[in-house]
Amino acid sequence: MRRDGNVAIITIDNPPVNALKHAVRKGIQDNVIAARDDASVEAIVLTGAGRTFVAGADITEFGKPPQSPSLIDVIATLDDVKKPTIAAVHGTPLGGGLELTMGCHFRVAAAGTRLGLPEIKLGLIPGAGGTQRLPRLIGIEKAMPMILSGEPIPAKQALADGLIDEIIEGDLVSGALAFARKVLAEKRALTRVKDRDDKLKDIRANPAKFDAIVADNSKKTRGLHAPAAAIEAIKMTLDTPIDEAQKKERDAFMKLLVGDQSKAQRHIFFAEREANKVPGVGKDTAPREIKRAGVIGAGTMGGGIAMNFVNVGIPVTIIETSDEALKKGMATIEKNYQMSVQRGSLKPEDLTKRMALFTPSTDLGALKDADIVIEAVFENMPVKKELFGKLDKIAKPGAVLATNTSYLDVDEIAQSTTRVKDVVGMHFFSPANVMKLLEIVRGKDTAPDVLQTAMTVGRTIKKVPVVVGVCFGFVGNRMLSARSIEGEKLLLEGALPQDVDGALTEFGFPMGPFAMGDLAGLDVGWRSRKERGVRNEIADTLAEAGRYGQKTGKGFYLYEGRAAKPDPEVEKLIVDASVRMGVKRRAVSKEEIIERLIYPMVNEGARILEEGIALRPGDIDVIWLYGYGFPAWRGGPMHWADTVGLKKIRDRLRELAKETGDKRHEPAALLNKLADEGGTFAGFAAAKAA
Ligand SMILES: NC(=O)c1ccc[n+]([C@@H]2O[C@H](COP(=O)([O-])OP(=O)(O)OC[C@H]3O[C@@H](n4cnc5c(N)ncnc54)[C@H](O)[C@@H]3O)[C@@H](O)[C@H]2O)c1
Repeated sequence: MRRDGNVAIITIDNPPVNALKHAVRKGIQDNVIAARDDASVEAIVLTGAGRTFVAGADITEFGKPPQSPSLIDVIATLDDVKKPTIAAVHGTPLGGGLELTMGCHFRVAAAGTRLGLPEIKLGLIPGAGGTQRLPRLIGIEKAMPMILSGEPIPAKQALADGLIDEIIEGDLVSGALAFARKVLAEKRALTRVKDRDDKLKDIRANPAKFDAIVADNSKKTRGLHAPAAAIEAIKMTLDTPIDEAQKKERDAFMKLLVGDQSKAQRHIFFAEREANKVPGVGKDTAPREIKRAGVIGAGTMGGGIAMNFVNVGIPVTIIETSDEALKKGMATIEKNYQMSVQRGSLKPEDLTKRMALFTPSTDLGALKDADIVIEAVFENMPVKKELFGKLDKIAKPGAVLATNTSYLDVDEIAQSTTRVKDVVGMHFFSPANVMKLLEIVRGKDTAPDVLQTAMTVGRTIKKVPVVVGVCFGFVGNRMLSARSIEGEKLLLEGALPQDVDGALTEFGFPMGPFAMGDLAGLDVGWRSRKERGVRNEIADTLAEAGRYGQKTGKGFYLYEGRAAKPDPEVEKLIVDASVRMGVKRRAVSKEEIIERLIYPMVNEGARILEEGIALRPGDIDVIWLYGYGFPAWRGGPMHWADTVGLKKIRDRLRELAKETGDKRHEPAALLNKLADEGGTFAGFAAAKAA
């Protein structure tokens, strides 16, 4: 705390983000009391040092015994100060940080500040009055989406909504001091946030409005505890005195905190950060500079990949084999941007700017200036090898040469160049401009700074990069294969596509495997299987009948627009296939569907860990969350397996191996070991990290 004349300035200084650990709470509390009791102090400014005001609670303290003062105590202390209190914020005042500011009479913010309550993303609700004070400041209509989405709002909007009182251009603390003196000079009324009711009067008189707001805001919250608890907490602002409501809010927070959903979501939060730690790639490994990118292939993936770069202002040279293919690819890109303009998420002038960042060409030589080249041509080894051979002669020295292959051996591709160190896999997911996952495939010769570059560029283009090793399908698709095989078997044994998809959507996936197949196109897998000499009896029979999925209006389902309907023809085709394959059909329960689809994935995940293809179980979880829609609140397949119990999973896999004679179901050595020890993947990860 320091003084500027009659104003006390309390600066929170706990790098990197001023998290509210116990010592910080105590520091704020002690200083606020000192300033409160000092008769020569007439106003108090609360601010943060470093790159941001308090960005939240210290979540490593979650689950440990609470230490006083709690954040609620600190806010209560602020509430009772009879001199003007002003929070002066910058950066990202989030969660507990924003709740803290709502204990002050006023809030001022630097331009560029983003304010929010992101607790919902960890399966929690604000637990220090946020659900009660935010609606009092900005009204329920604005507060509900902020709390349910967890997304921060920019300072301008915060000012318009009434969350802050002023935006400070220039030095924040000087601006806050001037604001404090203005408040003193004008003898402004000091209303505590908890006592405000002007934004609630209307809805209190007309509570039916509340349900309408809920209906507008709770679309994607099926099966989730936190949004339901948040809505209930916000509802208390209609009729429950704030002190009582705060106690109930706290109880709800504590209940969520010990619940499985929040544990799973916090696991993902940490796993995502852990995934950045890669052996041999330290802070001192500088990434190469990327000013210009090249993408080869303007098909399904190439177009989306190129858009990612352009979206962050990196120019891209995009290569195709013919003018026609190039035109088609560029038209798809433009159509995508036009859709964003129609939706209002992109300004028309930005569409023009973005399109200008593309250099389309049919000449591979145009890639000579690219700092990174990502290949996204047909999934065919000879084609890729020939291409990398040519690229080797064209690309400038030090350029990163990446392949977007889904299954092929990155090391073999690298061998077709004279610069194996510069070659890496960058495996995007479809649609590549939307899906957040990026598997970075580390070849046996990939240089550390190339890996660092791939990860850095991945983050620059707003992806979640996870480093994996070389094997067929890497982590995600290798586990997906395990699931697909079982899906097909379940159909032969008695289930229908809608049964399997239904069980998985109920589990929390946005889509089941057959609906996903229809979306991607059944011809894709069919062609690739033909090349490899394998057959999926049902999927391939469908493809042979011209049922390619959504694009032909028929696949596993019948399509009217995008709506999928079960098709009696498909049922007949499946039953016939069972007869042909000599499989007696029987009833298959939902529970069996989940076990059969996900246990083999867990088993494959364990093998992937044994082989070192993934560094940590958490990496696998992050991959499944961001690449395949595994429900966040279940924490990914490996975390979920821990909650089911590894012994149960191992025993069931053993049974399956015996029943079916399928060796793939034999439990992996790691799974066996952990099951015998009563261990977990989390325990395995902790032991490995130590
Ligand atoms: N589709 C997916 O869901 C998906 C997901 C992840 C990775 N991948 C991988 O991405 C790659 C591309 O897949 P896709 O689905 O975009 O295929 P696609 O068939 O839609 O596109 C491939 C494009 O590459 C072009 N092409 C072929 N040879 C070329 C060459 N020598 N030079 C320049 N262009 C060439 C083709 O004209 C075509 O437009 C494959 O390796 C695939 O395994 C695909």
